[in-house]
Amino acid sequence: MNARIVLLPGDGIGPEVVAEAVQVLDAVCDLYAHEFEYAERQIGGAAIDTTGTALPDETLADCQSTDAVLLGAVGGPKWSDPSATVRPEQGLLGMRKGLGLYANLRPVRVYDELVDSSSIKAETIAGVDLLVVRELTGGIYFGARQEGTQTAYDTMIYSAAEVRRIARVAFEAAMKRKKKVASVDKANVLASSRLWRRVVEEVAADYPEVSLEHMLVDSAAMKLIRYPAEFDVIVTSNMFGDILTDEASMLSGSLGMLPSASLGGGKLGMYEPVHGSAPDIAGNNLANPIGTIMSAAMLLRTSLGLDSEAHAVEEAVEDVLSRGYRTADIANPDDKRVGTIEMGDLIVEALQRRKDAQ
Ligand code: IPM
Ligand code: MG
Repeated sequence: MNARIVLLPGDGIGPEVVAEAVQVLDAVCDLYAHEFEYAERQIGGAAIDTTGTALPDETLADCQSTDAVLLGAVGGPKWSDPSATVRPEQGLLGMRKGLGLYANLRPVRVYDELVDSSSIKAETIAGVDLLVVRELTGGIYFGARQEGTQTAYDTMIYSAAEVRRIARVAFEAAMKRKKKVASVDKANVLASSRLWRRVVEEVAADYPEVSLEHMLVDSAAMKLIRYPAEFDVIVTSNMFGDILTDEASMLSGSLGMLPSASLGGGKLGMYEPVHGSAPDIAGNNLANPIGTIMSAAMLLRTSLGLDSEAHAVEEAVEDVLSRGYRTADIANPDDKRVGTIEMGDLIVEALQRRKDAQ
């Protein structure tokens, strides 16, 4: 098939990890006879430096009319002055809102090979396979706010329609998985959470096979560390999802392992690793490209409908991990330590070998 993918490398380690994911996508094209055309656009701090804004009009417009978007990371100390009015993160938030990407899917899997790379006990994390469905275009991230010198506020607003559509995404996902949804809120304190809970209940009525449990966010944060393997799908608001997915990433050994997909009503999606720009290691061939490569696999499956190609990429990643290769963030002393570029090359080779064996 022919597809057009906009690349938004962004800041810090973004360009390095996107380069490895593109190499994997190129290998998929070669091996499975597809043709992907790429267009690279600016976002985040890099865009601020050259255009004065974190999301140039051209970037958003181009992403609105493409098949999929692959993003690296945005942000860094150079642009983090709290008094600045333009910030790299505005690029990311503007993309999510501008493309209507209200559903953020963050799968968390613990590979058997990596049970000893996590700071949590192996017996606690063995078998973890969960999916966080984070609402991405509403809540406290986008509510009215005011910033004075003595007082400031942010507001958390949810409409029933916003809750309904994200709850549907979660229940649909659960139907294809273990049929369990945990809806996470703070209904003992927040009005928006009480609305959330009521609407999730209404949606649940359409999915009698799926079991639904409501959890308060503080208790969910605790259970995620204590009994992570009991979760299947977690559905939650924008900010709770932000916090819980960083927490959940530690189950998998490293924030560098986690992919994500941000979707709206149609096929167009934006795919990015959950990690940030990691300015401390940028440019040193140290970053783990697996989260971005797994994001590219989600892109193949979800926006392009290339399920077996996506599966091949995921298997290639597992193959390389099972042979003991690790980037620094997931390496134990006995592992074979490799850099960003070598990890990308190994995954491409594994993909080729897998295809040759067929
Ligand atoms: C994430 C990030 C972003 C968020 C930041 C960079 C604005 O932490 O995607 O989880 O808070 O959503
Ligand atoms: Mg985050």
